[in-house]
Amino acid sequence: MQYSKRVLQIFQNPVNYGKIKSPDGIGKAGNIVCGDVMAIYIKVKKDKKNQDIISDIKFETFGCVAAIATSSIMTSLAKGKTLQSALKIGKQNIVKNLNGLPPTKVHCSLLSTDALFEAIFDYYSRHDQDKITKDMIKRHTDIEKDQAEIKKRYKNWVDNEEKKLNKHSK
Ligand code: FES
Repeated sequence: MQYSKRVLQIFQNPVNYGKIKSPDGIGKAGNIVCGDVMAIYIKVKKDKKNQDIISDIKFETFGCVAAIATSSIMTSLAKGKTLQSALKIGKQNIVKNLNGLPPTKVHCSLLSTDALFEAIFDYYSRHDQDKITKDMIKRHTDIEKDQAEIKKRYKNWVDNEEKKLNKHSK
């Protein structure tokens, strides 16, 4: 398995890594394949057309090289976008921006898109429930189910890694 040069460069210098104080939305997602977990924090503002845009976004993860590189790219793509356009960012956009990912690592890019979805879902739940569709509720429920399963399967490891993350972000 080989990462592209771009993946390795971004992994060494990721952008938007960390937490946002008092975020407007928080999303967490886990990868059922490997047990890795990701958190996304967003700040939302109105633009001139009164649309909700992502004015700031950060991520935290203890995922692999691919998870960090894909999150860095995803957050760059999402920043400044309306919430509706950010919801359309898919793994294809991310993989293309990274000049490809080894096939066994494509699942890692789902972590960031799922966590972004959850952050937007969280924002809508608190501020604009009319925007939540049936499909969104289904996706949210599936992500929550996966997370519960991961907690069960990888409990000790997840607890340890979460402690490490909290220590680093203090
Ligand atoms: S192997 Fe877990 S996110 Fe990549």
